[in-house]
Amino acid sequence: MDVIKQMLTGKLVEGYMPMQMLFELGSFALLFIGAFYFLGKNGIKVNKLAQATGLFVFSILYFTYRIYPPIPFSVRAIYATMTLIGIFMWVSSTEESWKDFRKPIIAVADANTAITKMIRTVVVVLLPFLVGFMGYNSMKPNVDEPIELRTVHPAPPASTKVHGKTFVLQTASSPYRVDDAGKYSDTIQKTHIDGNPWDEKAPPYLQYVREGGQIFFQNCHFCHGDNLNGRGMFAFAFNPIPANFTDPGTIAQLQETFVFWRVSKGGIGLPREGFPWASVMPPWEQHLTVDEIWKVILFEYWHTGYYPRTWD
Ligand code: HEC
Repeated sequence: MDVIKQMLTGKLVEGYMPMQMLFELGSFALLFIGAFYFLGKNGIKVNKLAQATGLFVFSILYFTYRIYPPIPFSVRAIYATMTLIGIFMWVSSTEESWKDFRKPIIAVADANTAITKMIRTVVVVLLPFLVGFMGYNSMKPNVDEPIELRTVHPAPPASTKVHGKTFVLQTASSPYRVDDAGKYSDTIQKTHIDGNPWDEKAPPYLQYVREGGQIFFQNCHFCHGDNLNGRGMFAFAFNPIPANFTDPGTIAQLQETFVFWRVSKGGIGLPREGFPWASVMPPWEQHLTVDEIWKVILFEYWHTGYYPRTWD
């Protein structure tokens, strides 16, 4: 029931997002097409090319701003291509609509009126410039430093040994992500996301968050920033730069035990794929206890509002 309530308020609910997205996009497309059909019936004809452009622009905006966590550009490009194919199938579905779609393009090419003549002249003059500009851009020598290909999230080992204790990454869990009775809880963060860790009567989970915050500001904020956005005062001296935890590409994509392994071993403990080993992330097992590491991670998730990935 909770899920349906969240959906009705327009929230994207984890686990249902692909279905929600398809449903929303489908409804919007139908609404769009329906509206133009209705307008057409009432004598206001909107040209098919304009309709198609509108639908395409809308879908781009939808993919960019509605979907969360944000989709990378390369994937958005694939979605846009698929949308374009769909739109083409729609406009070419009947002879009549295909003719309507081509009409403005052919009118510009024929240039029988003053306006179309003007548009054609502008296009004919601008096109070579555009091609020239693209050619220039691709030939221009590049003065940026070469890109270092590096796996940011290398495959983790099956288990990791910290302070003499072995943690199996698949089965271990944070001893501090617990409900008031001290039992591990996936939902405790959600319950206390707006809670006050400084409240003396705060539940155990929030007390651990507070302790984690203190560890963070004693050790991590120099690099990872006091907003956890990777812009600490030392951050810009390093390449790769410290991880930005508010970015959906870092801890939001990781299991809590993965983060535990990464924090314990630091840049030095990165496996082969993490090459070149230029990461200055310190191996925190040399400075913090196991408990402190779990707590600081708890704090990072609480503060950013992201949840650790689970083994789904
Ligand atoms: C000297 C600077 C520095 C300090 C201090 C530092 N880090 Fe980092 N950290 C980095 C850099 C640089 C990276 C990114 C490069 C990499 O992936 O190793 C990183 C990456 C990470 C990652 C990996 C994120 C990912 O997406 O894989 C985590 C988690 C992390 N740090 C947690 C911490 C915690 C917790 C502390 C404090 C206990 C801390 N860091 C202190 C520099 C630092």
